[in-house]
Amino acid sequence: MANIIDGKKIAADVRADITARTEAFKNERGYAPGLAVVIVGEDPASQVYVRNKKKACEDVGFYSEVHEMPAQTTMEELLAKIEELKNNTKIHGILVQLPLPKHLDEKAVIAAIPPEKDVDAFHTINTGKIMLGEYSFLPCTPAGVMKMLEYENIDVSGKECVVVGRSNIVGKPMAMLLLHQNGTVTICHSRTKDLAEVTRRADILVVAIGKADFITGDMVKDGAVVIDVGMNRRADGKLTGDVDFATVEPKASAITPVPGGVGPMTITMLLENTLTAAKTTI
Ligand code: GUN
Repeated sequence: MANIIDGKKIAADVRADITARTEAFKNERGYAPGLAVVIVGEDPASQVYVRNKKKACEDVGFYSEVHEMPAQTTMEELLAKIEELKNNTKIHGILVQLPLPKHLDEKAVIAAIPPEKDVDAFHTINTGKIMLGEYSFLPCTPAGVMKMLEYENIDVSGKECVVVGRSNIVGKPMAMLLLHQNGTVTICHSRTKDLAEVTRRADILVVAIGKADFITGDMVKDGAVVIDVGMNRRADGKLTGDVDFATVEPKASAITPVPGGVGPMTITMLLENTLTAAKTTI
């Protein structure tokens, strides 16, 4: 029987701490940390994420703005919006919700966000700093995973860590954070020859590939710590991760559920980054 890591509980504890630090910040500075979220178009999943981000900001005492722009927004209009937010002194963090409609150039949009307000840590300056271990902002999802490991007293040093997935948002920065904690890190992806052979080596297995119930019990070593970053919707409408919980949980020593695992931690780390951005703004 695995320890089911309760992401909701950990997120609530960390958010209580952020609320206290926000209160102290406001008393000292006389204003609140501010986050602006820009959403273009009407992707229903993105709308839910953005609503959750706004609610999370309000709960910890931040100032927040949501800028909803129509699906046919041009690059010029979106860049003008970013420029406006860049110059808004109430706003310390800017987040453009991804994915953007296909006609918009995501890379150019991210490049337009000033690195000191880039609370997603997607700008090349911030991704470069992650590589060097000189963090201004921690990438939200990988940072949330590290926070959970720390909270559960799971030591990474010297462990075989396997990350399944190599996205710029999760897989690659995840590997870096584990490496900085002295893990022995392997990244697997769609071209990995014998995936199960590699995942079975893992003491700590982090899965972020976006395929429902992809990792099954036979791919996991007895006693492994399994972190499921996936969020997929099954045909029956139920949410599920990238890990087949039913067959993996009996073998794991600890596992994150979906929902209620990594998900609540991601927004928590966004709040942490926004507070950091506010503190570092003079
Ligand atoms: N879309 C899905 N996850 C994220 C995220 O962490 N940040 C942004 N900006 N868009 C996303």
